[in-house]
Amino acid sequence: MKSLFATQVFQGPLGLSKKIHDEIMNTALKLNGIDEEGVRWSKKNYPNGYTSYASLSRLHEQFSVFNELKKKLDHSVKNYSKGLGLKFDTGALEISTLWVNVMPKNCYHAFHIHPLSVVSGTYYVSVPGNVSPLRVQDPRAGLFMTSPARKIQHDLKPKKGDVILFESWLNHEVPPHQSDEVRVSVSFNYDWNNR
Ligand SMILES: [Fe+2]
Repeated sequence: MKSLFATQVFQGPLGLSKKIHDEIMNTALKLNGIDEEGVRWSKKNYPNGYTSYASLSRLHEQFSVFNELKKKLDHSVKNYSKGLGLKFDTGALEISTLWVNVMPKNCYHAFHIHPLSVVSGTYYVSVPGNVSPLRVQDPRAGLFMTSPARKIQHDLKPKKGDVILFESWLNHEVPPHQSDEVRVSVSFNYDWNNR
């Protein structure tokens, strides 16, 4: 038996210092209170929660603490893309966007992909017990014709301080968060800059 075209997802500790980690947590919660445009957008598009995705999506350029996070991510994403066998003979794989997500109870994020990016992922800042997972879907799901029932989704359980990396075409969702404590994460995209 050979495994061909397997979907590779990375999960592991990013190794960020406690000081930076805690500062990211504080900044994420602060943004939730001052980013009016983001709060407005989240009301319509991010039920019950707050994301800076549509308002402050290049946080690594705006806050040194997020730039510290980016430095670690650069390293991790480089290793991951090497492991995938991606070759960048021209141009480079570079971060394009980085934003925060604050999910109170019942907040969810329906299935989606990250078009135009190569590698996407999330760094987990606050992970209460009973946290909702990152659910990924088999990319072949739309191709199974008369196949019998099979598992087409997999739940990745986030751990505080972990990063999860996947290729941007991988369909994923966060089901409704079940804890009274807030779930906080930082998501990001890496694009192929070939100009
Ligand atoms: Fe996503």
